[in-house]
Amino acid sequence: MSKLWERMLLVPSVVRLASRAPKDPAAGWEGYWRGIHTTGHSGDVLWDSGSRTESEQYADAVVAHFDPTLPVIDVGCGNGTYTRWLAGLFPSVLGLDVSSGAVELAKREAEGLQNTDFMVLDAAEAGAGERLLERMGPANIFVRGVFHVLKPNKQASMAANLRTVIRSSGRVFLTETNFPGNSLAYLQQLGATRRSMPPQLQSALENLPRPGRFGAQERNSTFPDADWQLVTDGPVNIEVVSMGRLGLSQQVPGYFAVLAGA
Ligand SMILES: C[S@@+](CC[C@H](N)C(=O)[O-])C[C@H]1O[C@@H](n2cnc3c(N)ncnc32)[C@H](O)[C@@H]1O
Repeated sequence: MSKLWERMLLVPSVVRLASRAPKDPAAGWEGYWRGIHTTGHSGDVLWDSGSRTESEQYADAVVAHFDPTLPVIDVGCGNGTYTRWLAGLFPSVLGLDVSSGAVELAKREAEGLQNTDFMVLDAAEAGAGERLLERMGPANIFVRGVFHVLKPNKQASMAANLRTVIRSSGRVFLTETNFPGNSLAYLQQLGATRRSMPPQLQSALENLPRPGRFGAQERNSTFPDADWQLVTDGPVNIEVVSMGRLGLSQQVPGYFAVLAGA
C-alpha cells in the first residue's frame, strides 16, 4: 500500500481522537498535564525526550546572546526540563505555564534546585508582560514548542508581552517545530498507522490544540520589524520521545531564532 494511501487511512482515527479535545486550549493543556505519569526518555510527554543532543544545539546561542546579569524566563515550561537545563547555565530562572498541572509537575522535578521558581500564567493574556516585568525586572526569554501551538492572534499577543519583558537588554530565544509536510504526514513520521497510535501521540491528539509549523515566515509575521530585530536564526532538530520498537528518540525538523527589541 502506498504511503499516501496509508496516510489517508489515518483520517478516521485522527478525527475521532481530535473531536475529544476541549475547545478552550487552556482546558486542553490542563487535562493533558493532569494525565501525565512519567516524563523523560520514553515517558508520556511527546516532546520531552530528555535529549542532551537537542539542548547542546542551543547552548552556544543562549550563552552568547543572553545578558547573564538578567534572569531567564522559560515561557510555556511544561514539566520544566528546559527550565532545569537553563538553571545550570544562568543564575536565576523562572518557568511559567498556563497549566497549573504542568507547574506542579515542574516544581516536583526541580526540587532542590535553589535558582528556579515557577508560576502559572497565560503568557498571551493582556497585561502578562507588565506582570512579569514587575516580578522579575527586565529578563531574557526562552521558549520551546509554544508558538507553533498558538493561533496567530495569540502568537501576536504573546510576542507583544515578551517585548515588554525584555526591555532593551533582554533577548528572546525561541525554538519550534517546523515540519514541512501536512499534519497527517507528521503523525505518520511519528509512528501513527491506521492500526496503532503511540500513546504519547494519542494523548496529545485527544487534548491539545492542533499544532502548526513555525519557521522564518511565521516568525516574521509574529515578531514585526517595527518592534523586533532578528539577531540570528536557522534550522535545528527537535527531539521527541522514543515511540518506535528500537527505543530511539526521533528528530523533527525545527527552527530557532534569537530576537532583540528594535
Ligand atoms: C509543547 S509544550 C512544550 C513544553 C516545554 N517548553 C518543553 O519544551 O518541554 C507547550 C507548553 O506551552 C504551554 N502553553 C500553551 N499555551 C500557553 C500560554 N498561553 N501561556 C503559557 N504557557 C502556555 C502548555 O501548557 C505546554 O506546557
